Amino acid sequence: MSTYRQFHARSLQQPEAFWREQSALVDWQEPVQRVLDASRPPFARWFTGGRTNLCHNAVDRHLPARADQPALIYVSTETKTEKTYTFAELHREVNRYAAVLKALGTERGDRVLIYMPMIPEAIFAMLASVRIGAIHSVVFGGFASHSLATRIDDARPRIIVSADAGSRSGKTVPYKGLLDQAIALASHAPEHVLMVDRGLAPMPMTPGRDLDCAAQVRQHWDAKVDCVWLESNEPSYILYTSGTTGRPKGVQRDTGGYAVALAASMKHVFGGEAGGTYFSTSDIGWVVGHSYIVYGPLIAGMATVVYEGTPIRPDGAIWWRIIEQYRVNIMFSAPTAIRVLKKQDPALLRRHDLSSLQALFLAGEPLDEPTARWISEGLGKPVVDNYWQTETGWPIIATPRGVEALPAKFGSPGVACYGYDVRLYDEITGAEVGNNTKGVVAIAGPLPPGCMSTIWGDDERFVNTYWHSVPGRSVYSTFDWGIRDDDGYFFILGRTDDVINVAGHRLGTREIEESISSHAGIAEVAVVGIADALKGQVAIAFAVARDPGAVTDAAQRAAMEGEILKLVDSQLGAVARPSRVHFVGVLPKTRSGKLLRRTIQAICEGREAGDLTTIEDASALDQIRQALATKV
Ligand code: PRX
Repeated sequence: MSTYRQFHARSLQQPEAFWREQSALVDWQEPVQRVLDASRPPFARWFTGGRTNLCHNAVDRHLPARADQPALIYVSTETKTEKTYTFAELHREVNRYAAVLKALGTERGDRVLIYMPMIPEAIFAMLASVRIGAIHSVVFGGFASHSLATRIDDARPRIIVSADAGSRSGKTVPYKGLLDQAIALASHAPEHVLMVDRGLAPMPMTPGRDLDCAAQVRQHWDAKVDCVWLESNEPSYILYTSGTTGRPKGVQRDTGGYAVALAASMKHVFGGEAGGTYFSTSDIGWVVGHSYIVYGPLIAGMATVVYEGTPIRPDGAIWWRIIEQYRVNIMFSAPTAIRVLKKQDPALLRRHDLSSLQALFLAGEPLDEPTARWISEGLGKPVVDNYWQTETGWPIIATPRGVEALPAKFGSPGVACYGYDVRLYDEITGAEVGNNTKGVVAIAGPLPPGCMSTIWGDDERFVNTYWHSVPGRSVYSTFDWGIRDDDGYFFILGRTDDVINVAGHRLGTREIEESISSHAGIAEVAVVGIADALKGQVAIAFAVARDPGAVTDAAQRAAMEGEILKLVDSQLGAVARPSRVHFVGVLPKTRSGKLLRRTIQAICEGREAGDLTTIEDASALDQIRQALATKV
């Protein structure tokens, strides 16, 4: 048996011994009493009785060995700023932010909502929250007022931390107006809004509620704020993610399990070493940003690159320039970004010295073989696909290079990671399927450390959504299709639910449908994700107008489509904007009224429509075909 297979087998057969060893990778203020409490399945409580703190593990504990080494390297090609913070400087900033949060009344267990662009202050705010035992909820800066309001109402933050604006491709994206709108839409009101002023956009302040962050920080310049030691299972953060309903789910993460899982993954999956440099191109609004911009690298004692900008400005060599300049050892990105780079001059890949780079990790969406080949040959470095979810917080499937250099197979993210008992089930019968047969990818409980503890405020939804979806089984469903070959390598074949993946951004088609339906002229709408060569998938909408006379000619349809796209932009954000809105007279549904999204998707992608025995009105499919054939 290979080294890795033994490692994996032991993690499942002797989970307590395995994870006790891993728990030594982080500091505990009070030792762990029990490694795993699985007495109330499917809930798993890891490292019970142990007390720790994420900020201590990410920052304070490195001070004796590396106070003057880089911890946070900020590069913004948007504002042309580069600034490095050592661990000592990061510690100082985080203490100031923690003091500000405390002075504003933030207590252990309170929520701090962070709606910010990629600036160091966002990371100070995250680390400051967990330092004082508060729970952060970072909302992606690309989301607009409605998305933000839903999250404000669910998380009920005492404080919101935001900034005047983000910047994308040289264009300022003002935040404050959207934030004010979101607060007006929400029923919950935060006590304070802390605003970071980058000098990019106006930020009208509401007296009494809104405070200038820099002024607050100045009042606590020399502050020292002790870490609040949390029991391992106390929450560290909430991160919202899309699912089958229009209501995003607050993925709740614990403290000790997450710290251990990240420390272990940095060693076993990424092969990261203290003193090295890690560059993840994600955004703090997504799970990759939480785990591998902020917590993972810092817990491992690595410097983390925080990048604001696109992969192609000022030119397509910017990321390779960063690798050379900061001697980056590990890079993490998404397949869409690589497909964007593939359109650039390949000579750019060789312009810089990449000798420090050990490997490029890619995740978030399927990695197609041509892209994988292009980048691995172009860089001459291993390209490591890895598959996971917001819910799990760290890779489910990968080739853990820190344990053994397993061969890569193009098209496969690899084998099950240690701690994960990955299985495949038949969607209808719930029977476990063998190798080389397509099934739903599921994980037999207990989930390993670091995975979601529950859905914020809704244990029942957690159990019903994730653990009751494979018929007759109580296993965690990933809602992805997959297949396993005889070597134990998995291939991921897309989602089983209504979630789509646009440029690595996970979006719920229902949320987009709800937004479009709020247009007064729309009676009904179906949104599906269809294959796209660059972005992996794009959203397409088929809408039924309330008044069919309002969309009879091309000019009317174009006007209505424009209104709908603007509406989605303003409610959800441009990330959720469908690439097209087509108009039809009727949508394909089953006789019981269920939208046949998979059928619509098949037609859009030019595939067979599949089993149509339950369809109410088969002519609806012709309308979809006709709409696709019509230009506007
Ligand atoms: O469908 C899978 C896809 O992205 C989903 C999870 O997205 P998110 O919660 O945003 O977490 C991303 C963490 C990297 C999965 O259910 N997905 C993620 N990684 C891969 C993938 N699909 C294929 N290959 C991957 N490597």
